[in-house]
Amino acid sequence: MRSHYCGQVTAELLGKEVKLAGWVHRRRDHGGVIFIDLRDREGIVQAVIAPEQKEAFEKANSVRNEFVLQIEGKVRKRPEGTINKNLRTGEIEVAVEKLTILNRSEPLPFPIDDEYHDVGEETRLKYRYLDIRRPEMLERLKFRAKIATFLRRYLDEHGFIDVETPVLTRATPEGARDYLVPSRTKPGNFFALPQSPQQFKQLLMMSGIDRYYQIVRCFRDEDLRADRQPEFTQLDIETSFLTEQEIQALMEEMIRRMFKDLMKVDLPNPFPRLSYADAMRRFGSDKPDLRIPLELVDIADLLSDVEFKVFAEPAKDPHGRVAALCVPGGATMTRKEIDDYTQYISVFGARGLAYIKINAEGKEGLQSPILKFLPDAAINGIIERTKAKVGDIIFFGADKANVVSESLGALRLKVGQDRGLVQEGWKIAWVVDFPMFEKGEGRLSACHHPFTAPKAETVEELLRDPHNALARAYDMVLNGSEIGGGSVRINSSDMQKAVFNILNIDDAKAEEKFGHLLTAMRLGCPPHGGIAFGLDRLVMLMTGASSIRDVIAFPKTQTASCPLMDAPSTVEPEQLIELGIRVVVKQQSDKEQKAI
Ligand code: AMO
Ligand code: AMP
Repeated sequence: MRSHYCGQVTAELLGKEVKLAGWVHRRRDHGGVIFIDLRDREGIVQAVIAPEQKEAFEKANSVRNEFVLQIEGKVRKRPEGTINKNLRTGEIEVAVEKLTILNRSEPLPFPIDDEYHDVGEETRLKYRYLDIRRPEMLERLKFRAKIATFLRRYLDEHGFIDVETPVLTRATPEGARDYLVPSRTKPGNFFALPQSPQQFKQLLMMSGIDRYYQIVRCFRDEDLRADRQPEFTQLDIETSFLTEQEIQALMEEMIRRMFKDLMKVDLPNPFPRLSYADAMRRFGSDKPDLRIPLELVDIADLLSDVEFKVFAEPAKDPHGRVAALCVPGGATMTRKEIDDYTQYISVFGARGLAYIKINAEGKEGLQSPILKFLPDAAINGIIERTKAKVGDIIFFGADKANVVSESLGALRLKVGQDRGLVQEGWKIAWVVDFPMFEKGEGRLSACHHPFTAPKAETVEELLRDPHNALARAYDMVLNGSEIGGGSVRINSSDMQKAVFNILNIDDAKAEEKFGHLLTAMRLGCPPHGGIAFGLDRLVMLMTGASSIRDVIAFPKTQTASCPLMDAPSTVEPEQLIELGIRVVVKQQSDKEQKAI
């Protein structure tokens, strides 16, 4: 049907006959001559239909946007003055001799145009096949495929074996809610879709696969954000007989080469490493955006004796934190801006946002609602430590350590973005030395997942102080986004059971839920560890997209549904009967619950 892609017809083909097929991007009538911009996945070419080509001209007259055409004609130079240097095909046009309408199109719900800002996302997703006709979307999907190909090649060259793991499986403790699938053959039982292939890839190490990878779909029923989807893709990796340093070296080399090959970007060698504790202390986040040149500064020691209780109490509390964030040039912030920031960080539990503006040299130059509560020595100490200068503002957080870190960490990001402080380029780092456990509601939960090995080498050592135990875990963080996370795993059933116990899973329950893994650990389990990258996030960052939805062909909306297929949907009553399932629709009160 065609000899070339539209976007490939360049001056090299001058004088040649070509046969093209594609969509009508635009049709213009220029005093007797018809111009058609014909588009396919490789680009747009200009076709010219002169009235002398009677049959073609007549058909061209009836053509509308997005009709599917086939054209035949000769490639010729465009007249002087009509050359478009921005287009690969901008020097030529095709003088059409034959035109076939392969299919017509009704008027579209929105134009195929890179600039449509007024088309809602719901509409774009409902007609995703039209949305993907846009060059911008096509380019992203093409680039995504390039990334996947690069990664596969790298891993293949390094001896990794691509193994597929089940999608119908059991609940995995990755921390999110599971998607469940009812079983017909075992009524009342459910499969869970995997939140990750974590246990399977560990079992593959126990099988002797040694190096595994898979580009794999994972499912997590969690609240959605711009960088989260209910089903998303991981580049999932596991290795045997490598230390965490060796795993990290192999993985950062992969990412470094990918950036070099696909983006011509040089990432540092080695990637900088940051401990979790330092990341929280300096940036208030375990995935710090290192493009923003602002840091939190601890000042509790300067304030433990002041009368101002808001500061003094957390300063004295071993679980408290008092920190400052100096924003250069921030003294120009209005009252309203500061109020908005105060409101912004209140969702992280911050009960206020004290500040000092430095309008001029000397004490008279300071403007602040808390000045009257603080002795000069404390104020001078704060200014010195934060290196604040005239024209700056210093913000304060005083509370439980996690509240201060989270709220000032979020403020750092927001102020950095609002004030244009985010530097160009790529900032990548490993965050290491994560805690094993975090305090959930009253009890400990796994920081990464319960299979992560502690730094402690023996069960006794771990049990001595689980609250402060560190994990052999690592995250790769790029421009403030966690693009990958992994760890060295536990490989003895005793240690695994001890960790389960700390997580409130007793031996009986552990045997019931994870017996397969515990048994495998007793049957010749090599030391092993791995990582998983969020492929969608990586592609989002590399293409400059603002949401992972823009790099997924058919993503879900904020409410985890698909407007295109109208999923999820109700099913036939027969299907439910077969599965032994009755649907109960929840209404305002339990009394009003009705069975369908
Ligand atoms: P983790 O839960 O950290 O680790 O996930 C690995 C990476 O997957 C990406 N990611 C997501 N991307 C899009 N939408 C989501 N809802 C979503 N959730 C996570 C992130 C994250 O860094 N089994 C372990 C890996 C291991 O230990 O080897 C795991 O799944 O980029
Ligand atoms: P107050 O004495 O409560 O009016 O607070 C005086 C100033 O301290 C106000 O600017 C508050 O926003 C701020 N503030 C109150 N609580 C905190 C806190 N926990 N951390 C930082 N600033 C606070």
